[in-house]
Amino acid sequence: MAEIDYQSRIPNNVNLDTDKRLQRALEKWQPAYLDWWNQMGPESFQEHDVYLRTAVSTEPGGWAQFGYVKMPDYRWGIFLDAAEPDRRIPFGDHAGEPVWQEVPGEYRNVLRRIIVTQADTEPASVEQQRWLGMTAPSLIDMRNLFQVNVEEGRHLWAMVYLLHAHFGKDGRDEADDLLARRSGDADKPRILDAFNQPCPDWLTFFCFTCFTDRDGKYQLGALAESGFDPLSRTCHFMLTEEAHHLFVGETGVERVLRRGAQLAKLDPNGDARAQGGIPVAMIQKWITYWFSYSIDLFGSEISSNAADFFAAGLKGRWAEVKDHQEHSALNQWQRMIVPEGGRLTEKDVPLRNAMNEVLRAAYIKDTERVVKRWNQALEEEAVEDRIRLPNNRFFRRQGIYANLHFTPEGEMISAEEWNARVDGWLPTAADRAYVASLMHKVTEPGKMANWIAAPRRGIHGNPVEFEYVRSPHR
Ligand SMILES: [Fe+2]
Ligand SMILES: [Fe+2]
Repeated sequence: MAEIDYQSRIPNNVNLDTDKRLQRALEKWQPAYLDWWNQMGPESFQEHDVYLRTAVSTEPGGWAQFGYVKMPDYRWGIFLDAAEPDRRIPFGDHAGEPVWQEVPGEYRNVLRRIIVTQADTEPASVEQQRWLGMTAPSLIDMRNLFQVNVEEGRHLWAMVYLLHAHFGKDGRDEADDLLARRSGDADKPRILDAFNQPCPDWLTFFCFTCFTDRDGKYQLGALAESGFDPLSRTCHFMLTEEAHHLFVGETGVERVLRRGAQLAKLDPNGDARAQGGIPVAMIQKWITYWFSYSIDLFGSEISSNAADFFAAGLKGRWAEVKDHQEHSALNQWQRMIVPEGGRLTEKDVPLRNAMNEVLRAAYIKDTERVVKRWNQALEEEAVEDRIRLPNNRFFRRQGIYANLHFTPEGEMISAEEWNARVDGWLPTAADRAYVASLMHKVTEPGKMANWIAAPRRGIHGNPVEFEYVRSPHR
């Protein structure tokens, strides 16, 4: 593995200085990236000193450095995990052959599409979250938001490196387009639907990082199995950073739930809202919404694209090498519940065509573990309410259940019944207005907004009261 070159304009461990053309191309992209960051990154906090971690190595245990940084000075770098000697393509029709260090010509277009689709989510989420600093419920939360934001920026760098290094002019054009699309823009939106949804409040931010970043975890995990080795090594390292984003989301939702439960107990009528908190039932609606939006990101249940990606050795299952013995996925079937003629029936689908569903199922299992933890927290707070994930057919806009109506339990219902009941399941305009009304910035170190419990501990051994974000005007 190359040493980290931390002195050059673009920190990297890919020996960028030995490929002058590539280095020049990326150095040309860098100011465009910084323009994008200054324009679309965290609003009103670019001059603040933020206590951030920066990736400085890919060594487990010693990969990050902590310290105050102004976000535009963050050292966004290109880091690939160490190459595994004699690595073989782990699955699909090429299983057992040596991995590719260059893009195979026949897979060039699909691989570029896969990389661009992943890449696009990274700047999109920064754009979605750009106003949240102004209503942060505490300094530590504000810092966590900015940490997530700079790392999504680094993930964009990771993907842009692959585009520049392996896809020639097409790749450079794609890298430029990644800075040109805008989340939620009518004319040039981001590629995936969930990344065009607004993120106007912190409950949304916590649900987004818990559920939507977790989709990222599973996509990166599937790509970390890829036979295209540079993609595999990039994704491996991105997963290291991603774990913190999921932690921010999971613990964030838990803290809002705990506080909602505590305030309900304080109130003579058991009403958290009367005490300025968010009732558990309302939090449930946000969870339902973002879980449903996020499982759409896995794509259609039955997909010839997914079959092709697997056959080609480009995108595997979660923990393909570790958890599976059989890697061809041929002559195997996945049982699925499919809508046919206005009712649900069971159908066996060739496993390769069911790969999106297999990855989604791994994701759902992971989210169920998270919900269990939240329910333990509610039990500790001694309230009756519990969180439940909706059925995977509920409120889908992609795949075989789209354009149909289901209850959160997965029962098919008519459009009339849906319309009559949806306000009990998903956030209403009034719910959103209420949550928005609670969003006010709290900047005294260690202090929390009333609607959220304090975190258990601070960052990197510092106390919760640490001044994680410093104003330049003090
Ligand atoms: Fe990311
Ligand atoms: Fe993330």
